[in-house]
Amino acid sequence: MTEISALKAGLIADIEAADTLDALEGLRVGALGKNGVVTGLLKTLGGMSPEERLEKGPPIQDLRESVTAAIAERKAALEQAALDARLASEKVDMTLPADLGPQGSVHAVSQVMDELAEIFADLGFSVATGPEIEDDWHNFTALNIPETHPARAMHDTFYFPDEEGQKKMLLRTHTSPVQIRTMESFVASGQEPPIRIIAPGRVYRSDSDATHTPMFHQIEGLVIDKGITLGHLKWTLETFLKAFFEREDIVLRLRPSYFPFTEPSVEVDVGYTLTNGQRVIGGDGDAPGGGWLEVLGSGMVNRRVIEACGLDPDEWQGFAFGTGVDRLAMLKYGMNDLRAFFDGDLRWLKHYGFSALDVPTLSGGVGA
Ligand code: DAH
Repeated sequence: MTEISALKAGLIADIEAADTLDALEGLRVGALGKNGVVTGLLKTLGGMSPEERLEKGPPIQDLRESVTAAIAERKAALEQAALDARLASEKVDMTLPADLGPQGSVHAVSQVMDELAEIFADLGFSVATGPEIEDDWHNFTALNIPETHPARAMHDTFYFPDEEGQKKMLLRTHTSPVQIRTMESFVASGQEPPIRIIAPGRVYRSDSDATHTPMFHQIEGLVIDKGITLGHLKWTLETFLKAFFEREDIVLRLRPSYFPFTEPSVEVDVGYTLTNGQRVIGGDGDAPGGGWLEVLGSGMVNRRVIEACGLDPDEWQGFAFGTGVDRLAMLKYGMNDLRAFFDGDLRWLKHYGFSALDVPTLSGGVGA
């Protein structure tokens, strides 16, 4: 009895004196771990007679409960202290003078979108936009993704609740519906192609981890004209990627793929090489130490899509492509966690942000 109360007093004194979470964890293992003292005492209960157990059991159980409770209490206190220390070191001074001037800078996503607009403007593309709240027709059906198509499930769509007599609405899962809206508006206004547009913007999918956020950015490209071929597509993407990564040695690899809205479809990889252990975009991905990174989805616009928009696919052909703007920014500027893009943390922006005066121009180099 007295031995147990002495043990209890000693353990609790040690626990209360533990000044780090590591030290506390050491004490926990020493008492309650597989070979801990308290665990050892609990094991002796099995070998006792019922009478002996009735006498010695309660103080041993009490020892275990008291030690467990003391550890939990000390752990909470240490964690609270760590949090307080962090909050104190990270505090924002709300009394800073208002005349300090804006602290923000241009976000990497905005910068990359400006770079893309600049590059494609030079190739004769204009910028088109569409609504982020879309209907089924533009986001799926007109893009040759009918109701039963498995691609619908793959898009992890955010749907709005059904409303009596209303079209089913959703948050667009890609910028491809802007292809449809652009072709439709050409037809509606009696304008004839050529069409050359890019469509940057926000898209939404119910997905979240280090490389996926529920809202992210895509850019879409669409060209509709007569006699357009895969060669035009490849040249355009090569020219774009050379300007974007500011390197002449960009090597593309076109892989056959499948998208409902293009036929044939190709996924586009760019080669990278290892420089000081870092992946650097450029060079032949098949060279030793090199590899390929997927950067774009693309293809020749499916004739069913052209038809759905009211154009004659025997007369008009084209190509389309789509890619993630956030991912392009990560590749170009070496960021590794997509979630930081949307934290609104001024420290991140100070590190990765761009000056408002640093407007990308082709002649000056679209890089920062
Ligand atoms: N919309 C596709 C996606 O979000 C990307 C894409 C692939 C766009 C091929 C295109 C294309 O225009 O031709 O995954």
